Amino acid sequence: MTQDELKQAVGQAAVDYIAPKLRPDRIIGVGTGSTANCFIDALARLKDDFAGAVASSDASAERLQKLGIKVFDLNEVSELEVYVDGADESNEYLELIKGGGAALTREKIVRAVSKEFVCIADESKWVDVLGRFPLPVEVIPMARSYVARELVKMGGSPVYREGVVTDNGCVILDVYDFKMVDPRKYETEINQIAGVVTNGLFAQRGADVLLLGGKDGVKTIYPKY
Ligand code: A5P
Repeated sequence: MTQDELKQAVGQAAVDYIAPKLRPDRIIGVGTGSTANCFIDALARLKDDFAGAVASSDASAERLQKLGIKVFDLNEVSELEVYVDGADESNEYLELIKGGGAALTREKIVRAVSKEFVCIADESKWVDVLGRFPLPVEVIPMARSYVARELVKMGGSPVYREGVVTDNGCVILDVYDFKMVDPRKYETEINQIAGVVTNGLFAQRGADVLLLGGKDGVKTIYPKY
């Protein structure tokens, strides 16, 4: 199977996973990226079974609307039944790196409001230790250089993602060379640097279940405790 076929398989698996949770008055959270797009496309079939979705990016909101799925502003919604999104890396605790698509802050907000986070990924995203994928950090533009210096003090090698402005009007630093044996500590410490909006570690609240696509099919993985 190609990587695209694996993404389609996990997108469909996520639709099958959430189908029993859908109700006409329920709203779900929908993420961003190529794997999330496969989920959105497969979700269209069930669009009459739930009220609509909150999207973690303008791009996903547009894709949902084109398929006839109503998009809600998160401020109109008190709770999301389930949130489905991809990831750039996952370890066995289902602690994640996200933000390769620059939507990390909205993703973290949607995750916070959701009762359950279903992560979908192909097996290339599975790692022993987080950090092979550079950690995205969303930063207020005027703080970019200061935050970069602080990240260097922590042992990272930040690179400014040129030409990218997030949906929140901020910039992204991609941080190389972190080997995160304790991702929760990194998540907290990086968020305390003045000027950081958020970082792409989803460790304090990671995924509740991971649907991981590989050559032997889609595996359902729960966090190791
Ligand atoms: C978007 O900001 C990200 O968090 C994505 O969920 C992540 O980058 C995975 O994207 P792909 O599904 O395109 O690999």
